[in-house]
Amino acid sequence: MPNFDNKRVLITGGSGGIGTETARQFLEEGAHVMLVDIDEKDLVATKKSLDSDRLFIHTADVSKAEEVAAYVKKALAAMGGIDVFFNNAGIEGVVKPIVDYPEDEFHKVIHVNILGVWLGLKHVMRAMADDGGSIIITSSVAGQSGTPNVSAYVTSKHAVVGMMKVAALEGAANNIRVNTVHPSPVDNRMMRSLEDGFSGGKGAEAKEQFEAQIPLKRYAQEADVANLVLFLAKDESSFLTGGQYSVDGGMSAM
Ligand SMILES: NC(=O)c1ccc[n+]([C@@H]2O[C@H](COP(=O)([O-])OP(=O)(O)OC[C@H]3O[C@@H](n4cnc5c(N)ncnc54)[C@H](O)[C@@H]3O)[C@@H](O)[C@H]2O)c1
Repeated sequence: MPNFDNKRVLITGGSGGIGTETARQFLEEGAHVMLVDIDEKDLVATKKSLDSDRLFIHTADVSKAEEVAAYVKKALAAMGGIDVFFNNAGIEGVVKPIVDYPEDEFHKVIHVNILGVWLGLKHVMRAMADDGGSIIITSSVAGQSGTPNVSAYVTSKHAVVGMMKVAALEGAANNIRVNTVHPSPVDNRMMRSLEDGFSGGKGAEAKEQFEAQIPLKRYAQEADVANLVLFLAKDESSFLTGGQYSVDGGMSAM
């Protein structure tokens, strides 16, 4: 029997690279999936490309409380419950030193990457209170060590680790497990944007330099991250909560 038959999975950042690949894998394993994203056009395109009658979509800004309440309500109505919550939406912000980092950009990253994750926990943990569930938050290698020029991103990805630990402790009594995943650079849109930001437009060169610093000498693929998320959602990981899980080709061992 597929691992996720009759399981209900909610994914934010659902039309992004990692969200879409994770949805594809959950659908393949029999789950019902609802994707939430701010980008309606991309959501519709993702729905079309994944082509499943077990897939639902909903447009929302994860940093707005009433929109979070609405996406959780919609997930409950569409799927009858939430067993797995991949709390994954995030933005990278700009690449600038702290002294030049625009304050409004800092607020924007903090709003989406911290407040958005917290609001998701607030509403989904309430919805999971009776039957339990697994929540996976996307942090980053940037949630474990510093990188110059991305202060807002690094701050936000560290913050969700603390948030995860509190949520794991609060959720344990209701069998709600909460963990973070920490990908290295992933070969997708977000890294193209960061490569350009770090290199002043010489993206390909920046990629080569970044990859050279990773022990396994490559970026993660979206599927590498999705594989880990599915594991943390499965019954086989039922004793795992409050943990940080790397998918980084050895970066965090350095
Ligand atoms: N790509 C990488 O190298 C990398 C590495 C480590 C961690 N991450 C993290 O993985 C997660 C997914 O990123 P990705 O690589 O798929 O990038 P992505 O840009 O393809 O996906 C992010 C998605 O989040 C959505 N989003 C942004 N703001 C939103 C908001 N306010 N409300 C709802 N949706 C919103 C975007 O529209 C997009 O679809 C992010 O949290 C990111 O920080 C990415």
